[in-house]
Amino acid sequence: MSSRYYITTPIYYVTDAPHIGHLYTTVAADIMSHYQKMMGKEVWFLTGTDEHGQKIQKKAKETGETPQQLADRVVQRYLEAWKVYGIEYNDFIRTTEERHKKVVQAYIKKLMNSGDIYLSSYEGLYCIPCEAYCTETQATDGKCPDCQRPVENLREESYFFKMSKYVEPLIKHIEQNPSFIIPESRKNEVLGFLKGEVRDISISRTTIDWGIPMPADPKATKSHCVYVWFDALTNYISALGPMDNDEKFRKFWPEAIHVVGKDILRFHAVYWPTFLMALGLPLPKQIVAHGWLTDSNRKISKSLGNAIDPIALSKEVGIDGMRFFLFREFVFGLDGEYTKEIMYQRINADLANDFGNCINRVTNMIPKYMGNDAIEVTKLLSESSELKTLASEVVPQAHKEMEHFGYQKSLESIWKLISGVNKYVENNAPWTLAKSTDPKDKQKLEEVLLHCHESLRIASLFLVPFIPTSAKRAIAYLGTESDLKVAAPLATQLLWGKGPTSVKVTKSAPLFPRLEIPKA
Ligand code: MSP
Repeated sequence: MSSRYYITTPIYYVTDAPHIGHLYTTVAADIMSHYQKMMGKEVWFLTGTDEHGQKIQKKAKETGETPQQLADRVVQRYLEAWKVYGIEYNDFIRTTEERHKKVVQAYIKKLMNSGDIYLSSYEGLYCIPCEAYCTETQATDGKCPDCQRPVENLREESYFFKMSKYVEPLIKHIEQNPSFIIPESRKNEVLGFLKGEVRDISISRTTIDWGIPMPADPKATKSHCVYVWFDALTNYISALGPMDNDEKFRKFWPEAIHVVGKDILRFHAVYWPTFLMALGLPLPKQIVAHGWLTDSNRKISKSLGNAIDPIALSKEVGIDGMRFFLFREFVFGLDGEYTKEIMYQRINADLANDFGNCINRVTNMIPKYMGNDAIEVTKLLSESSELKTLASEVVPQAHKEMEHFGYQKSLESIWKLISGVNKYVENNAPWTLAKSTDPKDKQKLEEVLLHCHESLRIASLFLVPFIPTSAKRAIAYLGTESDLKVAAPLATQLLWGKGPTSVKVTKSAPLFPRLEIPKA
């Protein structure tokens, strides 16, 4: 297994400020990046914005700005949202940057020279919002098969990419690498598409001028811009500095994992790999397709008018509340219906009640029954207990789920441990043991408290990638901050008894305030 990890989000269109759907993808990548870092990997996490193409040009006309002004204004909203949510990306790429444009042009030139890009003409139905052509049969009632908006008839001189040439090798690659596209259902969808009729695709546009120019060509009668999806997909490599022989490219490109919404899976799982094959470059390691957040079963999106502002939400339920809710409530690969009620209930039940209360209880009892000084924690941890057994079951499960982006199940496993602590406290009633004068009970009391402490140390440390601020606060109350500084990989630190030997526990303030569910 490689010690390196490269994770990307899609680059977002700068037509509008980010909404909860964009947040979903970005936090997903942030959690995984954080987790992999804690697992000891050298991680590179890339996000950015998609700033060219007809969509942007059209929007800029509406707002009375130049496309560049629009991009410069809207990109700030993304940067702000990611800052609020504590997204720890390593690089943010904008497709209007020079470092990106030069790679796109070099790659296009290479493919023109090799004959994989050729000049011809195209007539077809085109969906402007999706920036994609479709066939007559796909466009039932003149509507785009993906977004259901009307398609337009477009005829233009165009460059084409020989996609058909790479269909067979790509099918083979997908079949030989079962985890290339996850989840499985999406992989089958892509294979189904590839086994149908796949034509060469138009790779340039003459109808717009807001894009990267195609290289000069005496055969062309018009000026062409590079198709926005070729431009956009290339960001995953251009950001690594491949032309400058950047070490980043060599180190990270072969480890690439693209996290994308199911709406743009085909671009990532068909277009992108065939471009790469033609360029003679290695394919990414994996494409992870997630579902949509929906509102009354419709995708949440700006154009459908049901977008939800992530910054406003963070003020309502907290950053960590949001981060947790999105990945505990919904199965990553499936659609999830978003409602405020579900969000408030989930945050109250799991964070305020289960986790928050548990931390509060245990950090209250330890100083009360064992004194305020630092205590030696590891001494009684070798004793067996139901918590020790539970931790040895749920932690490996939680790791296993993370291997395939199973955030929901991973959190569910950790919650088994947290609920286990709450039950264990009830069953062993430390307050009764504390009243006893029997030395055996005193030993039992310490054992119970230390086993609770150890379970919460493990749970809180595992939760750092998901709810960084609150998990770190919990860790500070437990007195196990040194875990955060240790170089050992998370997998080792999460083993029972592998925490610091001596800790000073402080009674916690509530970690999560109980939210008042707003009346509908
Ligand atoms: N610019 C392209 C991507 C190019 S990547 C080389 C694009 N941009 S986008 O701004 O429209 O949206 C990008 C991503 O946002 C989607 O693929 C998806 O990951 C996420 N989402 C947007 N709406 C969403 C939901 N309602 N639910 C979940 N994710 C959604 O497509």
